[in-house]
Amino acid sequence: MTHGQGVRGCWDILGGQRMSTSHYTHGSSEDEQQRLTALNTRLNRRCLDAAQFAAGERVVDFGAGLGQFSRAIARVTGVRVLGLERSAEQIAEATRQAAADGEATLVEMRQADVVDPPFQPDELGQFDAAHARFLLEHLPDPLLVVRNMARAVKPGGRVILSDDDYDTLRLWPEPHGFAPLWHAYQRTYDRHGNDPIVGRRLVQLLHQAGLRPRRNALIFFGGCAGEPEFGDVVGNIASIIDEAIDDIVATGTPRSSVSATLDALMTWSRQPDSAVWFGMSWAEGVRPN
Ligand SMILES: C[S@@+](CC[C@H](N)C(=O)[O-])C[C@H]1O[C@@H](n2cnc3c(N)ncnc32)[C@H](O)[C@@H]1O
Repeated sequence: MTHGQGVRGCWDILGGQRMSTSHYTHGSSEDEQQRLTALNTRLNRRCLDAAQFAAGERVVDFGAGLGQFSRAIARVTGVRVLGLERSAEQIAEATRQAAADGEATLVEMRQADVVDPPFQPDELGQFDAAHARFLLEHLPDPLLVVRNMARAVKPGGRVILSDDDYDTLRLWPEPHGFAPLWHAYQRTYDRHGNDPIVGRRLVQLLHQAGLRPRRNALIFFGGCAGEPEFGDVVGNIASIIDEAIDDIVATGTPRSSVSATLDALMTWSRQPDSAVWFGMSWAEGVRPN
């Protein structure tokens, strides 16, 4: 996926299916796929603990990406997970990784747009749970997709959402130039009609989709310089800014200033007193009987 595809409300034909052209900020380059893999390694255990999937549950994963969390769910439930994903590149890498891990049977990756998911007659309203992580922030109309998730589950079934509220990121002592750069990064979402603070809306979206919100939580993503994985935490922040650099420059921030601030961020991460706080929003709703 390249930048500049954020034409709200337009459609094109891909692989014989209708696909929305909503803007996916991060893309699917090899570097981005490595970033997403590292993020999964760091977060999947915490997300599984929050969701408490049970053996035998049938789950659909909206915006499944590389299918890594979909497979993690299937290892718990023992039932093949259906992963809906728009990008052919993501599906190809997901398929490669699943085969390499000997887990090809754990997930069916289906090319699909979550705006208009192509469910089979025996699927709609039949799932025990519908899950989406880091998806809603990339959609101009997240409520439409939460409604699709609600339709996918059976009465009593769960819809589980986790997403970013970028405004909650805190770095201290603050690296020089970071706050205005982070602000500019968030503005790139607005420009494409997407919402960088959708995480705070999760419970509201569940309610608006006709679901009964039941749990609300934060999943911590942060750390401090003394922790072995702190470099990965800061590297993830640097990486998402770096990938969005063209869009950030388009907001009026000079490219040289972005590069200088990223250099300052990496230097800062090696200071003994540097710390990051970030909470990934997480919420669960139930379809009424
Ligand atoms: C940040 S990744 C998250 C992947 C996965 N949920 C995870 O947590 O590892 C978001 C994924 O959503 C996909 N995506 C974005 N818009 C989509 C849409 N309209 N329909 C289907 N997938 C979409 C992107 O291609 C990308 O793979």
